[in-house]
Amino acid sequence: MSAGQIHALIPAAGRGSRFGGSVLKQYLPVCGKAVIVHALKVLQHHPLISGITVVLAENDRWFEAAVGPLATAVGTVTGGATRAQSVTNGLRFIAQRHPATEWVLIHDAARPCLPPDCLDQLLEKGMRQTDGGILAIPVGDTLKCAGQDQEIAATVDRRELWAAQTPQLFPLSELSEAMDAAQQQGRELTDEASAMEFAGFRPRLIMGSAANIKITSPGDLDLVEAWLSRLSNLPRVQQA
Ligand code: CTP
Ligand code: MG
Repeated sequence: MSAGQIHALIPAAGRGSRFGGSVLKQYLPVCGKAVIVHALKVLQHHPLISGITVVLAENDRWFEAAVGPLATAVGTVTGGATRAQSVTNGLRFIAQRHPATEWVLIHDAARPCLPPDCLDQLLEKGMRQTDGGILAIPVGDTLKCAGQDQEIAATVDRRELWAAQTPQLFPLSELSEAMDAAQQQGRELTDEASAMEFAGFRPRLIMGSAANIKITSPGDLDLVEAWLSRLSNLPRVQQA
């Protein structure tokens, strides 16, 4: 595959129902900046990423204040009721406004601790084939399947299981078609790789990091703060 232009897409139109609170989780301040700003900064300074589009909720009133001058460096588009709809709106916008885009890199606004070396690995390995790739980590815990009364119904063999993260990298046109087809078929999508899988592609699993957590509930904030302080003290070359 040729390198082609890579455009980053940040879905940030969620309502954070599991997190709760009066400020949306993507706009909470952590280590002096809003969560979404941490997510944007890693991508903004990457030499292979040609532009960034952020998907915002229709009634969003916080983005510009939260990101400050960075707001002028990114495009914005309105999202939908589900993450898949938000991403689909973003993909259409990128195809129209940035027609030279070949690859799209999708990254959750709520994942502020992406190590730059993981991003490099994903870009290098994911672009080698049209199937693309995602960051993920092998599952470490023993997994149990719950029965109706929360009794253990089975132990799941975890040896081949990985937990998916973002960013996820795919060719723009293949992903757009795959997302449209999956939604037309009424499939529930929890990430973009699933749409590609339904369309017959086999995206690569590329080693992510325990640091790259998604903020889901308030308990995640302490962990994010700890990782952000640690990452900011690490030299750029450290991860294998
Ligand atoms: N997202 C989006 N549009 C939606 C739903 C989610 O752009 N309709 C974005 C979120 O803003 C977030 C990312 O997708 O950056 C991951 O979603 P998640 O962690 O589930 O966030 P929320 O949907 O906001 O949280 P919850 O599911 O608890 O409501
Ligand atoms: Mg959600």
